Amino acid sequence: MIQHTTPAHARTRGEGLDGAGCELGGGPDRWGLRVVIHAALDEAGGIGLRGGLPWHLPSDLARLRAATLGRVVVLGRSTCEGMGRLLEDRASVVLSRRGGLGEGGDLSKGGVFVPPAPRKPSTPAAVVVQDWDGAWEAAARAGMGERVCVLGGAVVYAGALAWAREVCAARVPGVWGCDTFCPGLMPDALEAAGFALVEMEGESAPWGGLVRYERWVRGR
Ligand SMILES: NC(=O)c1ccc[n+]([C@@H]2O[C@H](COP(=O)([O-])OP(=O)(O)OC[C@H]3O[C@@H](n4cnc5c(N)ncnc54)[C@H](OP(=O)(O)O)[C@@H]3O)[C@@H](O)[C@H]2O)c1
Repeated sequence: MIQHTTPAHARTRGEGLDGAGCELGGGPDRWGLRVVIHAALDEAGGIGLRGGLPWHLPSDLARLRAATLGRVVVLGRSTCEGMGRLLEDRASVVLSRRGGLGEGGDLSKGGVFVPPAPRKPSTPAAVVVQDWDGAWEAAARAGMGERVCVLGGAVVYAGALAWAREVCAARVPGVWGCDTFCPGLMPDALEAAGFALVEMEGESAPWGGLVRYERWVRGR
């Protein structure tokens, strides 16, 4: 298991290097991966309610599908459970400390998490990993290109932000009474973390108002 995970952009002189000045690597860079966060947030930074999404936004789902087909998607156990199925034609990597028994799953925590089985032969079985190092390794081993799409939820976004090179954010009009929030993906927070807004498109929401589709990129 890889031990050293300092994000490249967070390194200052000497950090992330061993005593001999030799890069130990770790994180997505070690595997040549580009981490992209995909999220939809309401005006209060809300992303979810009772384990699901409070809004139904077909245009966002279509964009997400187009952006992730044939790629690796990384998601948290709660989001995976909430979806109740795997996204078709994508390789799912699910983070859970209750990983498979073979990976040292801790039964005292209430049992091993078993992800849903794929419904199509073209969809690989999900891989459950117990930490971010495991996620990057599984993403690389899936052999589906350098782009790794992080699909949430809040706990996973918060962890992935340190590594992310891109954030694709759908700004959903309104405040939806969410119980799960991701303040780190609000515009001010992204700017403070070194991201720049490089693209923005607007599209009418079915209930009125404008959904803004934003792409933020972080320089090295
Ligand atoms: N609006 C959006 O774009 C969007 C996208 C995705 C999800 N959501 C919503 O967000 C909500 C779920 O978010 P959430 O924050 O509650 O849960 P989550 O991030 O989906 O999953 C959290 C779980 O993932 C596992 N995990 C997270 N980080 C880990 C790490 N570093 N190592 C090992 N395991 C790790 C843990 O599972 P164990 O407890 O099994 O150890 C943790 O309890 C739902 O309402 C969902 O619908 C919204």
